[in-house]
Amino acid sequence: MDKEEARQRIKKLRETINHHRYLYHVQDKQEISDEALDSLKKELWDLEQEYPELITVDSPTQRIGGKPLKQFKKIKHPERMLSLNDAFSEEDMEDWEKRIKKLVSEPLNYYCELKLDGLAIELIYSNGVLQTCSTRGDGSIGEDVTQNLKTVEDIPLKLNSDADVVVRGEVFLNKKEFSRINREQEAKGLPKYANPRNVAAGSIRQLDPKITAGRKLESNAYDILNKGDDHQQKHQILKEFGFRINSNNKYCKDLSEVFKFQNYWKKKREGLPYEIDGIVVIVNDNKTFEKLGVVGKTPRGSIAYKFPLRQSQAIIEDIVVQVGRTGAITPVAHLSPVSIGGTTITRATLHNEDEIKRLGVKIGDTVIVGRAGDVIPDIIKVLVEMRTKKEKDFKMPSNCPVCSARLVRPQREVLWRCPNPKCFARQRKSIYHFVSRAAFDIRGLGPKIIDKLLDEGLIQTPADLFNLKEGDIIPLERFAEKSAQNIISSIQSRKEIELSRFIYSLGIRNVGEETARNLANKLQDIENLQKASKEDLENVQDIGPIVSESIVEWFSKEKNTHVVQRLKKSVRIIHQPPKSRKLEGKIFVLTGALQSLTRESAKGKILDMGGEVSGSISSNTDFVVAGDVPGTKLKKARDLNIKIVFEKEFLKMIK
Ligand code: IVH
Repeated sequence: MDKEEARQRIKKLRETINHHRYLYHVQDKQEISDEALDSLKKELWDLEQEYPELITVDSPTQRIGGKPLKQFKKIKHPERMLSLNDAFSEEDMEDWEKRIKKLVSEPLNYYCELKLDGLAIELIYSNGVLQTCSTRGDGSIGEDVTQNLKTVEDIPLKLNSDADVVVRGEVFLNKKEFSRINREQEAKGLPKYANPRNVAAGSIRQLDPKITAGRKLESNAYDILNKGDDHQQKHQILKEFGFRINSNNKYCKDLSEVFKFQNYWKKKREGLPYEIDGIVVIVNDNKTFEKLGVVGKTPRGSIAYKFPLRQSQAIIEDIVVQVGRTGAITPVAHLSPVSIGGTTITRATLHNEDEIKRLGVKIGDTVIVGRAGDVIPDIIKVLVEMRTKKEKDFKMPSNCPVCSARLVRPQREVLWRCPNPKCFARQRKSIYHFVSRAAFDIRGLGPKIIDKLLDEGLIQTPADLFNLKEGDIIPLERFAEKSAQNIISSIQSRKEIELSRFIYSLGIRNVGEETARNLANKLQDIENLQKASKEDLENVQDIGPIVSESIVEWFSKEKNTHVVQRLKKSVRIIHQPPKSRKLEGKIFVLTGALQSLTRESAKGKILDMGGEVSGSISSNTDFVVAGDVPGTKLKKARDLNIKIVFEKEFLKMIK
């Protein structure tokens, strides 16, 4: 993205974020999930880091969202209630530490807390007696919700001390209570709440304390102003004063302990009775924390290290239709790579034509993508606010993208179908061939997985294999014999390929391994092959009119040249002329297993030296290479009086 594009995108992101934050904070309404909103904020933050000159004072990254509701009395906070920047990866955390290490020389230790998904509150005590309770509001002025919060049982009305203190914490709702309230809402025919935080906010920011009392809210205190030497001590003091603190919080001596703590809770969060969306990491020493100061709305000395988002924004780069095993046509969105649930994905299903209409999705749109469990992600919503007018409508094709047959949509079905029963088979065979031993040799990518990848619309041509990301194929993990990670690394490990293999892998009719090798040796690169005329081709060893015709025909189809074009972007095609011609013209047959090399590499060596390998013995055979437990071929060789070479001798020949 160049600077001008970044400027446009930043503008749209700010408008969209502001719109949703206004709905959320001021109107208590929610149109997109917290995670989706977080992902938009993250993209804005990243763009602003890349182009700091585009940061403006009114950017949502610089300002605390939310205005106090008019109905409430206002309370001025004795000190500003700040907010936190988000980190989503260990790398983000390391960057944060680097930034603060530039500013302070003291050793850094951290206090880590669970980040509860609730509402921030401030409690003011005078002589140990609770005076006022407020929400954050705009950070300087909050809403007076004293009466409502007094109904929250674990907030002490009187402390075990007669100090004057300002305490901050979070009010939240446990998961059980959340479900109970939603069941109640449902029974009353009222809309359900999206998440526990919404109920907590809704219960506190309303005018009738009886409603608050009817919902079992809980609280955790996490800060007490101007007390203690370090953050851990603050928690101790809070506990002694009678506040409820979170017993899972932990002192961590360095970032590696912080990472362990975050990883632990990423796995165990489901078991907690309440929702958390990450951890809060705070520079433990109070003096160092203060010295680090505040930038904009956030203290430099602490950060929210969030769990991976299960929803994210993404840009639809293309919509491609996919033919499944039953001929069903599925539109699939090709996305700009985004991270969901901790892995990167590039594909989302659009299910069918009606779904595209329902979502109103266009190519180029910014959308929210999500994954529910182990299924291929789908598109939840189009962010119409993000449109630039450059988006293009998607039109369902009338012909099959694989075999060109006219598509049909049987009455009352939602799916279009390719009526050609051989279509899927044709498509998958070309991919089986592409990954096979003598072609790209992608191990672990068997027919079962390929069928599934095709069915799910994750690939359509061999070129798609190289763009797959781990997260795309996680839905196949249970089904595949290899893990998603292994499959991806197996694919990625084959990004350098000999020209002859490359030519063979294309699956051009009549072009076997030997022909591919002759073509590679003569033409030297793929461009020359693509350009070659029938006459040029017929000058290549052993190529006659039939083979040359198939090659020219294959390259005349745009569909095919497009695949080659895309493959060239992902893989490096190399060509080394044969090292020696020592075995030129000699025909070999292999039988039995060799000790020191596989059959494939034995074959490769023979071909490299100009020889040929045949599957069966005839009077033309020059050598039969016999390994352990040779088959019936050995007997036949003897009968035909063909020279038999054993492993040792063979190794000498190919040296
Ligand atoms: S410390 C400068 N500790 O997360 C704010 N916050 O984005 C320092 N939150 O508004 C807050 N659990 O409402 C802190 N253990 C915890 C928290 C926590 C939840 C919320 C809080 C704050 C937001 C930060």
